[in-house]
Amino acid sequence: MNMIKEITTQETFLVRNLVLRSGKPVETCFFDGDNLEQTKHFGYFDNGNIIGVVSVYKNKNSIFKFPNQYQIRGMAILEEFQGSGCGKLLVKHCEGYLTSNYANLIWFNARETAVTFYEKLGYTKNGFPFPIADVGIHFLMFKNL
Ligand SMILES: CC(C)(COP(=O)(O)OP(=O)(O)OC[C@H]1O[C@@H](n2cnc3c(N)ncnc32)[C@H](O)[C@@H]1OP(=O)(O)O)[C@@H](O)C(=O)NCCC(=O)NCCS
Repeated sequence: MNMIKEITTQETFLVRNLVLRSGKPVETCFFDGDNLEQTKHFGYFDNGNIIGVVSVYKNKNSIFKFPNQYQIRGMAILEEFQGSGCGKLLVKHCEGYLTSNYANLIWFNARETAVTFYEKLGYTKNGFPFPIADVGIHFLMFKNL
């Protein structure tokens, strides 16, 4: 059976490590704010195994004027499950959770290779591409809720 449910910070590490920090120590999979009370982590379960993860943080980006902003980080689907709709369902799950928490805006730094995925979900690029050390070129993207 497949389902999305809330998971702990530790439960995100395996998928983050394999997909986003491949070959790097597991310590690199801990992100600032992971253990804050307002942070939520969600996992996509396939037959009891976590095959995709995403996290939302209450974090204001000064570029945007909206008061109740959230950042998405750590969006990752195991390679063998990519392209089967799990990522889309995880983003939509975050949007549902944030809408019920009166969020005004979702933003994140998207890898350039994932920009089209987010555009298909209604997100817009803001400004120019920029590098993030050891990861690559990113775009700031956002969506008003
Ligand atoms: C990017 C990622 C999260 C997308 O999740 P996914 O489960 O593979 O994507 P889905 O199957 O839900 O795809 C939804 C739609 O986006 C498209 N899409 C998915 N990944 C894409 C990509 N990298 N480039 C272009 N389009 C993409 C799909 O073709 C699909 O299109 P459709 O609705 O027209 O059929 C996932 O592939 C992944 O973990 N990639 C590696 C890590 C990464 O880049 N994370 C994002 C960091 S910002």
